[in-house]
Amino acid sequence: MNRITVIGAGNVGATCANVIAHKELAKEVVIVDIKEGLAEGKALDIWQTSAINNFNTRVVGSTNDYSKTKDSEIIVITSGLPRKPGMSRDDLIKTNAGIVKDVTEKAIKYSPNAIIIVVSNPLDVMSYAAFLASKRPSNKVFGMAGILDTARYKAFLATALDVSPLDIQAMLLGGHGDTMVPLPRYTTVSGIPLKELLAEEEIEKIVDRTRKGGGELVNLMGTSAWYAPGAAAAQMVEAIVKDQNRVFPVCTYLNGEYGIKDIYLGVPVKLGKNGIEEIIEIKLDKEESKLLQESANSVKTVMTVLDDMKMF
Ligand code: LAC
Repeated sequence: MNRITVIGAGNVGATCANVIAHKELAKEVVIVDIKEGLAEGKALDIWQTSAINNFNTRVVGSTNDYSKTKDSEIIVITSGLPRKPGMSRDDLIKTNAGIVKDVTEKAIKYSPNAIIIVVSNPLDVMSYAAFLASKRPSNKVFGMAGILDTARYKAFLATALDVSPLDIQAMLLGGHGDTMVPLPRYTTVSGIPLKELLAEEEIEKIVDRTRKGGGELVNLMGTSAWYAPGAAAAQMVEAIVKDQNRVFPVCTYLNGEYGIKDIYLGVPVKLGKNGIEEIIEIKLDKEESKLLQESANSVKTVMTVLDDMKMF
């Protein structure tokens, strides 16, 4: 891959660009930000680790000059305000919708064939906003949340069971908010069902902590997380660049799958060179279906705020 663009040189964008460079997923990573000098500075700092960390990927920064992003194959959008303590992700919609629309339009002008990965919050609705602003097919525009949320779930489980996080397989559905639906029934430790290893009430506690995982970090740090979100977005980039057909929970446009229509929501997909290669529909029991529906309803409520803004 020749060029990947990361829009937003904040903590998440810079971390994502850093991981992309370390993994040499492209010849060049361009970081763009609106704040004078910030993208150039972060890019230069990352590039100066190349001789230490052994990578060739050039890292370039740009203050608002999208011509530098020309012909990017993937665009990762991280722009927007992060949460402060006491805020939900949904509180950010009024500010971030305008930002996401603006940067998407500017970036797609120079890279009309790009695949777009959205990280900005509220994630599910911002993914929809980028889809509308880019006018790209829905399999080319999707959001990063499920990899982050399952990574948090896996980290909590690995600690509780004192096992390697690499041996935990897990799936999670729904919106990137407190209504997300971790699926213990689809969680195993190297194939061993989680329920054989951990008591029901321990699992419940971990599921609950996962749902509020982003908020836990906001409360600890006064702003939202970046190492795991940035790395999670880079893992999606890797699946596309290497055409891996990885099976991940991804925030994607649903057109009747899971009985849900016309919203972006997290479901399992195959991620490869064309973006979303396939949406995978897994069987859900009554309780799981109910929770997914509730999560969809909560995303729909935020979608009405976007609709009322009449930006599209
Ligand atoms: C979080 C932000 C990125 O969950 O939504 O940390």
